[in-house]
Order: sequence, then structure tokens, then C-alpha cells
Amino acid sequence: MRTMTDDQRTAQILDGKALSAQMRRSMAAEVAELTQRHGRAPGLAVILVGEDPASQVYVRNKTSGCEKMGVASFSHHLPAETSQQHLLGLISELNADPKVDGILVQLPVPEHINPDSLIEAIDPGKDVDGFHPYNVGRLAARKPALRSCTPFGCMKLLEQTGEDLHGKVCVVVGASNIVGRPMALELLLAGATVTVTHKFTRDLQQHVERADIVVAAAGKQGLVKGEWIKPGAIVIDVGIHRLADGSLTGDVEFDVAAKRAAWITPVPGGVGPMTITMLLANTVTAFKAHVGE
Ligand code: GUN
Repeated sequence: MRTMTDDQRTAQILDGKALSAQMRRSMAAEVAELTQRHGRAPGLAVILVGEDPASQVYVRNKTSGCEKMGVASFSHHLPAETSQQHLLGLISELNADPKVDGILVQLPVPEHINPDSLIEAIDPGKDVDGFHPYNVGRLAARKPALRSCTPFGCMKLLEQTGEDLHGKVCVVVGASNIVGRPMALELLLAGATVTVTHKFTRDLQQHVERADIVVAAAGKQGLVKGEWIKPGAIVIDVGIHRLADGSLTGDVEFDVAAKRAAWITPVPGGVGPMTITMLLANTVTAFKAHVGE
């Protein structure tokens, strides 16, 4: 019998596309039932300011994801020169609108707009992105309410491995408000020992090499070298970068990492599809709270 060496090991794929499709199927059934019982569908309002092409694609995917699941979507596509005051007025109207359960402002917003003041104007019960300091604080205090979509999606992918996260050494690469920080709080809540690395971290390699679980969310193509991955580790790659030939790649050097890891997310088809699925899940959660379920 041959023993497997690190060189021959091939990671199992954490298939976000399949998990996402399965979750959306079961949510669609729940949405249909809730809509019938309460006489209205869950509603998501999406605010897009300006013409950023990537944001336009994300927003289109979010609204079409809603429609396919029976969630009502309310699109507010506003010109780049829209004022902060106008946006605050719109958010205030949406906060008061009983048909709207979730509100999201697609980021980034144009330079003259302060994104934090928009996020803080959203009713925390409608903050389906989980970006409002109230929802971040709830997660930090171990009483999660609406949870940030990408980290929440990463937790669902980690669940698929069947691994108990208690005491696992986790390294989150990247400390953004959208992914790195809430990801660290999710892992901490799950009982893991968490390190967050960022642009001032010295010797990233030494941190990654110790990790049972690596979550790469730095937004830098190929930052995490495949040979740094501990044999048998779980690798979650949040990065997404388009190469000159049109193909997509992540923050992790996939081919080498996949020979060492036990589980790895592909790019595309890993974390990406989960983000919108968790946004829809949060919209359903917010709807239930609004109708008293
Ligand atoms: N821009 C990049 N990621 C996100 C996200 O998850 N939500 C919003 N609203 N904007 C983003």
C-alpha cells in the first residue's frame, strides 16, 4: 500500500455554486409559503450610485437573484452626482416603507459621498449587508443579528467540511470592514483561535504556515503562496481578480495550494455565489422579524 505524500494530496473542492443552488431552492419554497401566508413577498431595496461597471454587474446579479427566489426587488439607480442629502432622504423613505425588508447601498460610492453615514442611516433591522455598527457590535458581543453576507457564506462553506472549529488555528488575511473583520468575529464565535493579518503584518508566511484554516480576503492576486499552506488545512479564498485572458483567479495560488490542503474553494464558484445567497437569506430573516415570526 502506498502512503500519500503531501505532493500527491489533492484537496476536496468546497463547491459554493452547488451549496448556493441548494440553499436557494429551499429558500424559494420558504419564500413562497411566507408570501402566501402574509400576503406580501419579502422585499429588498438596492441603491446604486454612479456607473461603476463591476458594481452594475453585482447589482444586476442581486436583483435577478431576488426575482428568481420570489423576493421583490426595488432598484434605485442614481446618477454619480447625487447628493449625500438626497441619499439620506431615500434611505429614510425606505426605512419607513413596509414593503421593504432589506436595504443595501452598493459600495463603493462616489468620492463626495460618505459611505459610513449612509450605512448608519439604514434601520439596523433592514441592514441585510450586516454593515451597520449595531449589527457588527451584535456579532462582536456573541449575539449575532443580521450578519455580513460574505463571512456568513464562508461559515456555511466551512460547515460543509464537517470539521469542528473549536480550537482551530485560523488566519484571516485582510482586515476590511466588509470581510476580514466580521470574518474574524464569526470564527471567534465558532470557538476558533483567530489571527487577523493586514498590510502592516510582518512575515505573513509564518502566520499562514501555522493555520488549520486560512481565509484569504486581502484583494491581492496570488498573495498567499501555495507552499505556505499546511498539509490538511482548509483554504477559503474570497479574492476575485480578472486576468488578461479573461479568466478569474483569487488571492491564493490555487494549483499548489490544492495539492496540500484538505479542502479548498475554487475561484470562481467558491465564495462568490454564496454572498448573494446569504443576502437573500438575510432578507428572508428580516422579513420574518418584520411580520413577527
Ligand atoms: N461592494 C463589494 N462587496 C459588497 C457587499 O457585500 N455589499 C455591498 N453593498 N457592496 C459591496
